[in-house]
Amino acid sequence: MENATQFELRLADRMSRLGTETAFEVLNRARQLEREGKEIVHLEIGEPDFATPANIVEAAVDALHKGWTHYGPSAGLPELRQTIATYVSETRGVPVSSDEVVVVPGGKPIIFFSILALVDPGDEVIYPNPGFPIYESMINYVGGRAVPIQLREERDFSLNVDELATRITDRTKLIIINSPQNPTGGVLQRKEIEGIARAVADRNIFVLSDEIYSRLIFEGEHFSIMSVPGFKERTILLDGFSKTYAMTGWRMGYGAMRPDLAAQITRLMTNSNSCTASFTQVAGVEALRGEQASVTEMCGEFKKRRDVFVAGLNEIRGFSCRMPKGAFYTFPNIRKTGWPSKKLATALLEEAGVACLAGTAFGEFGEGYLRFSVANSLENLQKALGRIGEWTEKNL
Ligand SMILES: Cc1ncc(COP(=O)(O)O)c(C=O)c1O
Repeated sequence: MENATQFELRLADRMSRLGTETAFEVLNRARQLEREGKEIVHLEIGEPDFATPANIVEAAVDALHKGWTHYGPSAGLPELRQTIATYVSETRGVPVSSDEVVVVPGGKPIIFFSILALVDPGDEVIYPNPGFPIYESMINYVGGRAVPIQLREERDFSLNVDELATRITDRTKLIIINSPQNPTGGVLQRKEIEGIARAVADRNIFVLSDEIYSRLIFEGEHFSIMSVPGFKERTILLDGFSKTYAMTGWRMGYGAMRPDLAAQITRLMTNSNSCTASFTQVAGVEALRGEQASVTEMCGEFKKRRDVFVAGLNEIRGFSCRMPKGAFYTFPNIRKTGWPSKKLATALLEEAGVACLAGTAFGEFGEGYLRFSVANSLENLQKALGRIGEWTEKNL
């Protein structure tokens, strides 16, 4: 083994441009502190704390017994593709057929594959900042030019359409939007989405619409750019099972897009994963067709927790927090503490035993904010509030 070190690791250049998702690093540090005997409240990771609904688990177990343990088609099992096509048609109000659906292991691969398939070096991609860090990471990875559009607190973290219009150039290949939004909980209203559509007008630009939190919305209704006349052909809809059905570890999501692009994304699936696990796809059919009460329950529970947590944050010295309209995150402004986001997040973890993320984990415009997930019990959320309150009283 010693000999192995005499060979320099000569990575491809592109690896230096690849970013990361800090949530996993913070989780690792929190686990290390736990091993050292500290007790941590976990508000860093973006996943529902509920169990996957029993009907879905049973469908998977049954599928395993029935032998759904082999390769399937790269684009997904025909029955699941059809079920998703029907679901997307009903929820977005535009007809979508099964050849316009590609099933992949999680929502993330749709980001990865769309950018790989569409963006050449030098092409510009407009993306939300603060936003899910994988957008910027992937744009940079393929040599594209990442063009941030700042989401501002005073606009409730929605997107300023006039600002977007000024960012669009002849090199713009792709615009990424995300609603409900990670990390801010912002939701794009129908009029804003229509404004985005007007700004794009008849240009040959794709919109990657990340709607992974579409069922976790507390006020108003979800609206997709795919529903805007003329946009179905230019929209890549990203949605999935992770957040809606508490299935983050199952790894299953999908994209809906025009069939010629779907065929290209399928080629990327063939070259990378071969297919999404077959028995999970059988369970995916049950998830979409079966009882939906658990989704409503989970959403109601997140709303309750959001209300309690936001009220509590607003009591803490130096913190102020808007009411997020969707997803399960709160994104308080912490500028009045005088601390930079990263330093404050680290201190809260190391000294107060509360794991959260710095706003800067979501891009440069996240400075001055922290992200707390409310995907934890009310009891733990109260405990976190108590600890942060005590810490700020002592240290600020
Ligand atoms: C905005 C956004 N898009 C996509 C994903 C990826 O979801 P999945 O776990 O299904 O890959 C996440 C997960 O945190 C997310 O927050």
